Amino acid sequence: MRPIFFFLFVNRKPSSRALPAPSTYYKTRRFTTVNNRAHRFAPTAAMAMPTWNDRYSSSDYIYGTQPNEFLEYISNDPRYLHPSSKILSIGEGEGRNAVHLGKLGHFVTGVDASSVGIEKARKLAVEHGVTNIDFEVADLSQYDFGTEKWDAVVSIFCHLPPQLRRQVYKQIVDALKPGGILILEAYTPKQLEYKTGGPPVAEMMCTLDGLRDELGLGGWMEFEIGEEKERSVVEGTLHTGLAHVVQVLGRKKPH
Ligand SMILES: C[S@@+](CC[C@H](N)C(=O)[O-])C[C@H]1O[C@@H](n2cnc3c(N)ncnc32)[C@H](O)[C@@H]1O
Repeated sequence: MRPIFFFLFVNRKPSSRALPAPSTYYKTRRFTTVNNRAHRFAPTAAMAMPTWNDRYSSSDYIYGTQPNEFLEYISNDPRYLHPSSKILSIGEGEGRNAVHLGKLGHFVTGVDASSVGIEKARKLAVEHGVTNIDFEVADLSQYDFGTEKWDAVVSIFCHLPPQLRRQVYKQIVDALKPGGILILEAYTPKQLEYKTGGPPVAEMMCTLDGLRDELGLGGWMEFEIGEEKERSVVEGTLHTGLAHVVQVLGRKKPH
């Protein structure tokens, strides 16, 4: 490598302003220095991820303003949600799912770590004249889910690292009322081949077997719907195209 190129590489400092768009970011090469020599290295998920506040910083709703398709299907079926249900939506993002549930008359709490996302969610709720939603900025690793508090918990594309995912799923099972439901859709590891959205690493994806293991917890939850499938996901600009997902409707067994 010629000295001028070497100089350019070793002087590139990562900066959130300089990050490319999320969809292209993971394809970029990055360099670091060890003993004053430049080395290429594969970014870890934490280093590579633009923050959620970065992603949500444009005025557009990057996952759209319409609800997730699976959530919409479940919410329109009276077997699953009774009127005025108390619902917790985790990783709520910019508010599309909470606003949909609020418009149906449910009492919703939407939680997300991104203050920018939650600000947009509040704006969306005002635009739709929905007042029965609480939005909270909180990291799920610190969040108090409560005990037997919710009729339903919603987790739509809320991809978490494995250790936190296990912790959160245990808290969800504890936090649901007996007979309460979990509505979940997530990308599977196969989604890495589709390249139409989702995290860049398999460990943050979900499989049906993995969810049975992490949510089953000795038989506390039964899956009334549980399938992995290919579907066209057209939900904003970051989730667009043929994708591989897992969908779960889990019900906490009554005592
Ligand atoms: C792919 S987005 C999905 C947003 C929304 N559920 C939707 O479908 O439109 C994932 C969301 O999870 C949130 N998230 C990720 N890790 C989180 C954590 N540890 N605590 C709270 N929110 C988190 C992000 O801020 C982001 O808004």
